[in-house]
Amino acid sequence: GTPQKIAEDLLAHYDVHARRLPWRAPPGSNATDPYRVWLSEIMLQQTTVAAVAPYFAKFTARWPTVQALAAAEDADIMAAWAGLGYYARARNLLACARAVAQQHDGIFPGDEDGLRALPGVGAYTAAAVAAIAFGRRAVVVDANVERVVARLFAIDTPLPAARPAIRAAADRITPDVRAGDFAQAMMDLGATICTPRNPACGICPLRQDCAAFRTADPAAFPVKVAK
Ligand code: ADE
Repeated sequence: GTPQKIAEDLLAHYDVHARRLPWRAPPGSNATDPYRVWLSEIMLQQTTVAAVAPYFAKFTARWPTVQALAAAEDADIMAAWAGLGYYARARNLLACARAVAQQHDGIFPGDEDGLRALPGVGAYTAAAVAAIAFGRRAVVVDANVERVVARLFAIDTPLPAARPAIRAAADRITPDVRAGDFAQAMMDLGATICTPRNPACGICPLRQDCAAFRTADPAAFPVKVAK
């Protein structure tokens, strides 16, 4: 399929099947709060959606805005984070909240460069927040998206050498509109259908667009270097 066809097919499926995650706006609404999007993306690094959900609920109930989080005691944040792991994220979380509160009047920057300059915000998180919270066209590639793209185009260069090609392909299929929905639709597809093992190609909205589906073993992509 053409890049436009791929994006259209994916978004049409997402309109019906999007996971109702706590940090997502209700379907058809544009009310994405950058604070909630940023908080969820930090929590979701190296951590599953199921593990994050109760922590996200706890944090947003106790600290509903970035200013509230910025005013918290370090020890309270660290205690509330206990159990999520990767504690550098919690320290960066507080540093980032304070930077937004003190240097940006409590308003998150709306573009990737501005986001990238914040503590703990790397290329992935900046792209995700720019797309999901601000509707900016951004190429959002995490491990799930990497797998989906490698399969769509049957990219047979082994990882990690394939990363530039995967990124370029992701860029080609990213639409100018609904960039946030597109990014989250790719993540959902990777998490629920285009899974590492036993992908559910029979129900995949991109089956007809997918080069790996036409091979004997779609799950062979992305190719890993032999250990
Ligand atoms: N993983 C990381 N960010 C995500 C999001 N916004 N939705 C679903 N899974 C994710």
